[in-house]
Amino acid sequence: MIRSAIRICILATAARLACLAFSPAYVVVHAQLTTEDRLNQPGFWPRKSVSSTAEFAGADACASCHSSIATSQRVTPMAATAMLAKDSSELRSHSLLLFSQGTARYEIRTEGGESVYSVTDGADALKSTLLWAFGSGPVGQTYLFKKPDGHIYEARVSYFGSLGALHLTPGFAPTSQMGFASAAARYVDPEETVRCFSCHTTGSTVDGRFDPKEMKLGVNCEACHGPGQLHVDTMRLARIAGIDDIRDKRIFNPASLGPADSTDFCGACHGALGDVLSVPQGIQTFRMQPYALQQSKCWGKDGDPRLTCMACHDPHKPLATDAGSYNKVCLSCHPASKDGKNLANLPGRACPVGQKNCVTCHMPSMNSPVMHAAFRDHRIRIVREPVSSK
Ligand code: HEC
Ligand code: HEC
Ligand code: HEC
Ligand code: HEC
Ligand code: HEC
Ligand code: HEC
Ligand code: HEC
Repeated sequence: MIRSAIRICILATAARLACLAFSPAYVVVHAQLTTEDRLNQPGFWPRKSVSSTAEFAGADACASCHSSIATSQRVTPMAATAMLAKDSSELRSHSLLLFSQGTARYEIRTEGGESVYSVTDGADALKSTLLWAFGSGPVGQTYLFKKPDGHIYEARVSYFGSLGALHLTPGFAPTSQMGFASAAARYVDPEETVRCFSCHTTGSTVDGRFDPKEMKLGVNCEACHGPGQLHVDTMRLARIAGIDDIRDKRIFNPASLGPADSTDFCGACHGALGDVLSVPQGIQTFRMQPYALQQSKCWGKDGDPRLTCMACHDPHKPLATDAGSYNKVCLSCHPASKDGKNLANLPGRACPVGQKNCVTCHMPSMNSPVMHAAFRDHRIRIVREPVSSK
């Protein structure tokens, strides 16, 4: 029953956040590992805390040898998913952003390289310089700042690309009983700070504690391959020694993972099956492609290397938006036509309706009202209910 409740959440993307937040308490403990379990095991896993930032070499060092990967990765939304507020082009191109909700009036004013967030309700006022912007921009951007008490807060309004304007930060449901302080900003406790930055930046957590001094903003090479200074040192020595066919075990290569582990790997940030079945809370619970993909019939019991995230996405390159480019993945398991000669050994059946652009019908775009945008449902299926299309 609860599993089907989760499935309903996935169907109703709009309600997913709220829905999932209420279901986990009843979920029977599952053999599936959570990201938390993974982080407690030895060895590298995305989001893992390190003992010293000196273990990191930095993406520029990687670029000196892996230049083509570095060039394309640098312009991905993942690499650009966090920045200093002063570097946000969304803020720079909108010098005055305004939003009102009830009696509260929100404003972000950008002038001289500084963005100031202010909130007033007639009686009280909050004014603070924004510090960080999360989200590469086209979908949305949320802002963090520090109050004089030294703690980190999240602005109650975010910028949404589709609106070109501010609206409520997802997860914020204002009520008339809410005091000014909480209507103006959300306190981000130290544990959540660790979580937010571990998904949006590289090397921000040292010894389990948020340590912004040396962190690199965005999801860079070492967020997925682990701290790389040892690999860099080894490869530089190997190069000097003229050795070139070497496989260095000191850098993590996710290509070595089986289908389920590989999906959990991206799921460390995108929402692994185990995370969804355990205790989701906060912003990280919505739109979990790893979980959704594993609910597809195509996934089967243990998955298949033909249907990992990497089968459809190159993490070093920007997202492909041409539906046709995904055909070959579907056709690696489904014959193109019933009468075709290519039925041999493919585990899936042929489609009676379409021969190309499979994802437009079987991975529909679903609207998320809180995000003012549509996202691809990664539960591959025959869509019986009406959905909105991109
Ligand atoms: C001095 C040159 C050099 C630098 C700097 C360097 N690499 Fe490498 N790297 C290599 C070579 C050579 C190989 C082996 C051949 C290959 O796979 O391209 C390799 C292999 C790899 C592999 C595959 C490992 C395997 O065997 O499965 C990964 C992943 C990787 N590097 C990531 C990185 C990252 C991340 C950085 C930055 C922290 C980095 N490299 C910096 C030269 C370098
Ligand atoms: C350390 C956390 C982290 C890991 C690990 C991670 N991602 Fe992401 N990913 C993000 C964040 C954060 C974004 C949001 C980017 C933005 O702000 O637009 C994102 C966005 C994306 C996008 C959307 C890009 C777009 O154009 O909108 C794709 C596709 C993606 N990730 C694929 C993957 C795949 C595949 C893997 C596994 C190899 C993976 N990610 C692993 C954090 C991560
Ligand atoms: C468990 C990892 C995780 C945590 C924790 C997390 N995020 Fe994200 N965030 C992501 C991923 C992954 C995406 C990309 C989602 C996608 O495109 O499907 C994302 C996307 C975003 C976006 C872009 C808009 C969007 O939804 O695509 C914003 C803004 C954002 N996150 C803000 C935050 C803030 C602020 C916090 C902490 C207060 C936070 N996130 C915590 C993983 C995380
Ligand atoms: C979002 C996660 C992610 C990020 C960020 C990332 N990689 Fe990778 N990388 C992967 C995955 C996953 C693979 C394995 C791909 C596969 O299955 O073939 C990989 C493979 C590699 C390999 C092995 C050779 C190859 O092409 O298969 C190298 C080298 C490499 N990455 C270098 C880098 C460098 C350099 C950066 C930074 C510029 C970087 N990666 C950033 C996820 C990532
Ligand atoms: C069978 C192909 C396929 C697989 C497998 C797949 N994706 Fe996607 N993904 C897509 C398509 C198609 C889009 C939409 C591209 C566009 O915007 O036109 C997409 C979009 C995304 C986005 C952008 C936000 C959104 O939802 O529209 C993210 C993030 C993402 N995928 C992450 C993942 C992760 C993580 C995995 C592994 C669990 C994964 N995808 C597996 C086909 C796939
Ligand atoms: C790893 C192999 C594999 C890949 C890749 C794959 N599928 Fe499947 N798919 C299957 C299997 C096995 C089934 C179950 C048998 C069947 O109904 O054909 C299935 C079932 C389906 C179903 C029927 C679902 C239902 O509810 O009855 C649809 C629709 C579907 N796949 C579409 C796709 C599309 C579209 C893609 C690409 C985006 C894709 N598949 C990629 C193996 C795969
Ligand atoms: C225009 C929309 C559309 C496109 C494009 C499309 N399909 Fe379908 N597909 C459907 C519909 C609708 C059904 C359900 C047919 C029925 O049950 O009457 C279906 C059924 C299926 C089934 C189940 C077949 C069975 O015997 O149960 C599979 C598998 C499938 N599609 C795969 C694919 C693949 C792979 C592609 C791309 C090569 C694709 N589809 C392209 C709409 C589409």
